[in-house]
Amino acid sequence: MNRVSLATATLAVFVLVAGCGTKGPESGAKATGANAGVPGSKYDAGPRAAETPADHERAEAGAKLFATKGCIACHAQGRRLTGPDLAGVSQRRTAAWIENQILHPDVMTKEDPISHEMLAKYALQMPNQGLTPDEARSVIEFFKRYDQGSAATAAEGSSK
Ligand code: HEC
Repeated sequence: MNRVSLATATLAVFVLVAGCGTKGPESGAKATGANAGVPGSKYDAGPRAAETPADHERAEAGAKLFATKGCIACHAQGRRLTGPDLAGVSQRRTAAWIENQILHPDVMTKEDPISHEMLAKYALQMPNQGLTPDEARSVIEFFKRYDQGSAATAAEGSSK
């Protein structure tokens, strides 16, 4: 099943409905009261990933994958490399959004407004690192464990 390609049609509708005059996706990317999400981002609505407790076993596996699957070439937690600082990422995004960014970064930068804005900001396309959905979920648990263990960092996570 290709949920991302389905997003194309849905996105077009959202864009029409949302119209112009909306704030930039990044400015709206923080969880709001209703968790309404950024308009046009199919995966941004709903609770942030870190709103559920981290699975420590998966987080362990995720930490290893983060190192062995090449993520550390571009990402760290607590500082920006060529890619975004991932401290607090599980508090500014939903699990579904992060999963799609990991599994289909090329589609996300085209179809998702948040990812698209980051592409412009970092002037670099994140490559598909070939993770399975299960591996991506473990990496998300690793992000959650990190963010839940460092509340101060996470609270600042979405500041630019
Ligand atoms: C070649 C550099 C590079 C590699 C390797 C890379 N990324 Fe990225 N990543 C980026 C860039 C650049 C972005 C911003 C979106 C874009 O431009 O594609 C990004 C965005 C993200 C985001 C969203 C960040 C946010 O603030 O919302 C997540 C999560 C992420 N990457 C996770 C990963 C994981 C996990 C891996 C390893 C499997 C990985 N990335 C590998 C460069 C990279």
